[in-house]
Amino acid sequence: MYRFASIVLAAGKSTRMKSPRSKLLYEVGGIPIVARVARVLRELEIEANMFVVSYQKDEIIEAARSVLPLAEAVDQGEPLGTGHAVQCALPGLPDWVTDVVVLAGDVPLLRADSLRRLMDMHTRAGALASFLTFVAADPHGYGRVLRDGAGEVEYIMEQTECTPDQMKVAECNSGIYVFCRKWLNEAIPLLRSDNKKGEFFLTDLIMLAVDKVRVPTITVPESEVMGVNTQMDLARAKHLAQKARVRRFMEEGVCFVQPDTVELHDDVEIAGGAVIEGQVSLRGATVIESCAVIGHGSVLENARIGEKARILPYTVIEDSVVRSAARVGPYSHLRPGSDVGENAHVGNFVELKKATLAAGVKANHLSYLGDVTIGEGSNIGAGTITCNYDGKNKFHTTLGAGVFVGSDSQLIAPVTVGDGAYVGTGTTVLGDVPAGALVINPKTQELRENWTPPYNRERKPD
Ligand code: UD1
Ligand code: MG
Repeated sequence: MYRFASIVLAAGKSTRMKSPRSKLLYEVGGIPIVARVARVLRELEIEANMFVVSYQKDEIIEAARSVLPLAEAVDQGEPLGTGHAVQCALPGLPDWVTDVVVLAGDVPLLRADSLRRLMDMHTRAGALASFLTFVAADPHGYGRVLRDGAGEVEYIMEQTECTPDQMKVAECNSGIYVFCRKWLNEAIPLLRSDNKKGEFFLTDLIMLAVDKVRVPTITVPESEVMGVNTQMDLARAKHLAQKARVRRFMEEGVCFVQPDTVELHDDVEIAGGAVIEGQVSLRGATVIESCAVIGHGSVLENARIGEKARILPYTVIEDSVVRSAARVGPYSHLRPGSDVGENAHVGNFVELKKATLAAGVKANHLSYLGDVTIGEGSNIGAGTITCNYDGKNKFHTTLGAGVFVGSDSQLIAPVTVGDGAYVGTGTTVLGDVPAGALVINPKTQELRENWTPPYNRERKPD
């Protein structure tokens, strides 16, 4: 019986990224590259997973464990090449493991289905080693797959070791392999580092396996197994992930006004009938329900937008809910913990934070509404501010249903305004207001008719 473990190579320095951050922590579709690889292993239900780490190991193992809580970390110390990385992991494999999936951590677009096919083929063939290949549009940087006259794999030649003729070979090694564990134990100590890079190349195992038995391969599209080595590769991987997501949603009836300009994270869900305008970013676990419209330039993170709701251009929404047929924006900012009720309106330059607006509430212009509950149908005038912070603590404001708040008013929390109460324009509400009451701060108006400003007054002659 075959039982698999995985070894993920995640210790490299990412030199070609020219950034202090490991490439495996950069995100594709909102998920760190190493966590995407972990998701594939989770989907395949591989029981034991070892991540070989060194450079930025804490962050990398944390990202891996966010998907596979039991993932094991193996510290490679000074990374001496992909062969050395596997060598470090082998002693820690559980006894029951018969075969090992080895994969580079820098393949963000790998699909579980392709790896499953490789594992099936490997077991069917009783192979010592097998791997995925692809035909690269530009093979530069990849190991080339060299075959004999009969088309059988002979060895993998790294870019740095290739002759000019070998460089022309377009079939490349994906860095995704399955090995028989027993044979791997025997072969790994045979690797040598007498190449131009002075590294132990995992790829040299292939020629050792070929000495014993044929090495079967499966060729998959480049778009699934491209490796991320440079910032250009990263941008390409993001673009490819994006295109696939947009396409899937289009097939399900989502309208994209400028499909090439949107950013969609992997965990986003959009129902058919929704319209996504240009330059929109949908991040985290955002859900867009049927027939909602997301206006140009809006950025939504972990937002839930109800049916037929309209988010007008340049709106930012974080960790909040907008219920059906509500209208938000343009230029609104919903900060975490906000909930905009059915048919409610939130307009230009209105900021909400932990604000619950019941159905039909209107706050159309220039307001800050933080730590507040507002009852059904209330109207919040332009320039209303909930003064929720005394410099140390935050306090809550509660407005009942049908409250009318006049423009340019301040509500000094904690404060409660009862159902149907009126707050006069320009009022600073300092204490609770009972239902049905009017609260105003008396002010007087002085009127001077035919008034001349001092600078226009005639000076008396001396
Ligand atoms: C590797 C393959 C190449 C293949 C390509 C596919 C080797 C020698 N070459 O090249 O044939 O075409 O992947 O994308 O394997 N790593 C470690 N420890 C190390 C070195 C690397 O854990 O000592 C990790 C890296 O973090 C990375 C992975 O191994 O996730 C692959 O290393 P990378 O430097 O990207 O190898 P490539 O040059 O892309
Ligand atoms: Mg690579």
